[in-house]
Amino acid sequence: MESFDELRERFRREAASIADREAWEALRLDWLGRKKGVLRSLLARIGEVAAESRREFGAQVNELKVEVERGLEEIGDRLAAKEREASIADRRVDVTLPGRRPRRGSLHPVTRVTEEIEAIFAELGFSVAEGPEVESDFHNFEALNMPPDHPARDTQDTFFVEGGRVLRTHTSPVQIRTMLTRKPPIRIICPGRVFRFDNDLRHSPMFHQVEGLAVAEGITFGHLKGTLEAFLQRLFSPETGVRLRPSFFPFTEPSAEVDITCPFCRGEGCATCSQSGWMEILGAGMVDPRVLRNCGIDPDIYSGFAFGLGLDRVAMIRYGIPNIRLLFDNDERLLRQVDR
Ligand code: FA5
Ligand code: MG
Repeated sequence: MESFDELRERFRREAASIADREAWEALRLDWLGRKKGVLRSLLARIGEVAAESRREFGAQVNELKVEVERGLEEIGDRLAAKEREASIADRRVDVTLPGRRPRRGSLHPVTRVTEEIEAIFAELGFSVAEGPEVESDFHNFEALNMPPDHPARDTQDTFFVEGGRVLRTHTSPVQIRTMLTRKPPIRIICPGRVFRFDNDLRHSPMFHQVEGLAVAEGITFGHLKGTLEAFLQRLFSPETGVRLRPSFFPFTEPSAEVDITCPFCRGEGCATCSQSGWMEILGAGMVDPRVLRNCGIDPDIYSGFAFGLGLDRVAMIRYGIPNIRLLFDNDERLLRQVDR
């Protein structure tokens, strides 16, 4: 059996070589471990010690224990200091590294197109008007010359809500609201959300339109054509061709569908325009005299033009987006792609 001096000597030797936590823990178990630690074994053998020496033996064990504990604590403190230094060095900021740039936010394509169109019409003297998305039958249909049994209602794929109201199927009810509350001359555009039971590559149940309305004395179809040409050439490009085809809307007479030369092939003919060289972009016409009268405006004095344009379609053309759903999927990648 080693003497207490030898044990003390051994502990000092072993302690001197400790360089990391693992070795420190092994040393602690070797000496203070509850099962096989050196000190525990010493106490277990107290029975072998002559009765008169037991007191002295116990005191020696205790002394050794105190030294071992103090030794371990010292090494532990030294290791902790070393660890702290290492972790500080580890986290030191390298100010010469290039920074991580936060990604810039960007506007939705429909928002961009809306703002552009508002800016163009502001220069032409139009102001912005708005109306509710949940609309009365009167404003959405009746005042626009679509009485309850009118066949044109079928083309509107209407969502009905309680109380005889509808989700507006177009922005044209804002015409009615404006004419009911304001006297001519009127020059407004009305951008907003509209809703139809309609869903495919180019149609979505919620989409956006912008309505235009001008009412004053002596407004002619020529004013309509000139305004639309100026607008569409500003929106797309100065070379854009504009073509009007006869059409029908219950609230305009005469009515026209307006095409532009296909912005992808510049009129040559491509897949996007079905080889026609043209693309339908909006509906328009002279405000029907009955609509004016429904709003208390005398059609013998005043005349007006109106038009309605699908904003989502403009965004799809502008940014080459093939499927209208991509506009509403909230996929951030779309925003990054159009933000150029
Ligand atoms: C109208 O809604 C008329 N109120 C437009 C108008 C206003 C005519 C004033 C005359 C005077 P139309 O149903 O054709 O017309 O719709 C106009 C445009 O909305 C279409 O050319 C198309 O671009 C767009 N559109 C229609 N349905 C959808 C849909 N489900 N999804 C996306 N765009 C649509
Ligand atoms: Mg339609």
